[in-house]
Amino acid sequence: MGGNGGAAVKILVKLGGTLLDDPASKLRLCQQIARLQASAGQVTVVHGGGKQMTRFLSERGVESKFVGGLRVTSPDVVDALLKVFTGSVNKELASALVAAGVRAVGISGIDAALAEAEQLNPELGQVGRITKVNPEILDTLCGAGFLPVVACVAGDRSGAIYNVNADQMAVACAAGWGADKLYFLTDVDGVRGRDGTALAELSSSDAQALIRDGIATGGMQAKLNAACDALEHGVGEVVIAPGAAEDILDTLSAGQPAGTRMYKG
Ligand SMILES: Nc1ncnc2c1ncn2[C@@H]1O[C@H](COP(=O)(O)OP(=O)(O)OP(=O)(O)O)[C@@H](O)[C@H]1O
Ligand SMILES: [Mg+2]
Repeated sequence: MGGNGGAAVKILVKLGGTLLDDPASKLRLCQQIARLQASAGQVTVVHGGGKQMTRFLSERGVESKFVGGLRVTSPDVVDALLKVFTGSVNKELASALVAAGVRAVGISGIDAALAEAEQLNPELGQVGRITKVNPEILDTLCGAGFLPVVACVAGDRSGAIYNVNADQMAVACAAGWGADKLYFLTDVDGVRGRDGTALAELSSSDAQALIRDGIATGGMQAKLNAACDALEHGVGEVVIAPGAAEDILDTLSAGQPAGTRMYKG
């Protein structure tokens, strides 16, 4: 299983939606994910699709509203969520991975009750906070050599559907599944600090300070909060890295520096 002959390393890769918008970048990432699965053992992918959602809604005359980086989710937005996140974005990614030789299976947090959620805040509508992860489906698929591709939509035991920030979904899956490593691949070179350049390393307390001081905002604010949660939940390695950089997953899995490595402190 693992390239070192030991137990398989479990790696969760979170792909930001923008990376999937460009066919060339999607192809490169899928080829790298294929190599990662072959060398590391078990890989699960969680993907976003925020930009695709905004585009889909604006084409239909619906304006996107965000509070603290989270999309306000009315019933119309839930319908779009299923069409875009669990539909086109998820299946196009699964299809590209299959083309790269990976036995990818596109699912969401709804499937097999992988991610159960509750309403986060009534002002945000159907935005969910994950309350429980049932990782059996990830273990079953990965154990049999498949690669789960998870859209960031969650459910609950009464049949409700929730929009979950993809970074929070990645962290919940990483913690529940027992991932050793969590790589957030995004559309910037890392977490930019006060001088506007990407930081090589960032502690959880410094991340909170960047949020407090308005340096990390919007999607990065949500990502840093999620990354801090991952560290709290015992994920050993958490990196926020540029998905567009050449051979980024090869670099990270070789233990070489790239993007911003997060640490507890
Ligand atoms: N300090 C910062 N450093 C880097 N990026 C920042 C910072 N503050 C805000 N950002 C914004 O955060 C964005 C990344 O978050 P975003 O949610 O857009 O992407 P993602 O999480 O990778 O994709 P998705 O939400 O589709 O899963 C960057 O494109 C940038 O505009
Ligand atoms: Mg985001």
